[in-house]
Amino acid sequence: MPSATAVAHPNIALAKYWGKREGAERMPAVPSLSVTLEGMTTTTTVTFDESLEADLLVLGGVVLAGRPAARASAMLDRVRARAGIALRARIESASDFPTAAGLASSASGFAALALAASRAAGLTPSPEELSDLARQSSVSAARSIFGGYVELPVPPEGAVALSAALVADGSRLPLTVLVAVTREGEKSVSSSAGMALTERTSPYYPAWVADAPRLFSRIRGAILEGDFTAVGAAAEVSAIRMHAAALASEPPILYWTGATVAVLEAVHALRSEGLEAYATIDAGPHVKVLTRPADAAAVRREISRVPGVRGTIETRPGQGARLIPTEGHR
Ligand code: DP6
Repeated sequence: MPSATAVAHPNIALAKYWGKREGAERMPAVPSLSVTLEGMTTTTTVTFDESLEADLLVLGGVVLAGRPAARASAMLDRVRARAGIALRARIESASDFPTAAGLASSASGFAALALAASRAAGLTPSPEELSDLARQSSVSAARSIFGGYVELPVPPEGAVALSAALVADGSRLPLTVLVAVTREGEKSVSSSAGMALTERTSPYYPAWVADAPRLFSRIRGAILEGDFTAVGAAAEVSAIRMHAAALASEPPILYWTGATVAVLEAVHALRSEGLEAYATIDAGPHVKVLTRPADAAAVRREISRVPGVRGTIETRPGQGARLIPTEGHR
């Protein structure tokens, strides 16, 4: 049975993507820039099977139906169309970190699925083609195809394809990302729904879109210069502006919990004491704390003590999506 297994890591955006271009299919309204994180991994095996009548999605050992299954099937449909096959597939995927809680499992999930499905179907796409395929399922997944520091520009008017690109290897700016896990479980508003509501109802959305390219360029330049302080400061501003735009929606979108705010306060207190740390937050309650590797142990100790923090995951720049041998097929 044609089968392939791929691994991919989540990425954390330093310059956030929030908002889709009007009238285009899953095209971002703002440029984004992320770092792909090792230490958290999604592993996905795709097996095309002539005995299956429908695609089957097994996530962490549990068969899923509904929207997650439909999104996975939609990607398989694109792969089948390109490969000229009609076979249905079994998708088995597992992540070693909390899913759907603002830890960007959709990014690692769709990046791994794009690669595993393409190869199982006998295709050999370029990284750019894979990134474009992943983007059509989830915009941030386009970035997880690449390792290190990765950008996703806004497409030219009328473009039908868009892929992410490498900005710099992880070694250009050594970085530790501490994920402060504040609450397990499903988030209440998905990124897609949250940004659609922001686009429709937030009076701050146009200001966000107008300002984001400038922040993106600042962060990009600072990464290339290896300037941790400039990257950290601008990344924190990008995250807070994204959340400010979302908060101003109607009804308001509040991804934060008390623990989220407590971690932000702890990060600010560390800075005022001379220990450099910066915070970034996605569409969930967790805070990702950016710090220099030499300060990571001290910063982690302080963050772990914050009431409401259930645990911390320590990560650093990692590799892009890649194939591994399928178990039982070695
Ligand atoms: C806050 O890529 O999950 O993490 O394209 O609708 O699937 P869809 O959204 P998604 O949004 C991620 C938003 C973010 C910021 C970012 O990763 O840039």
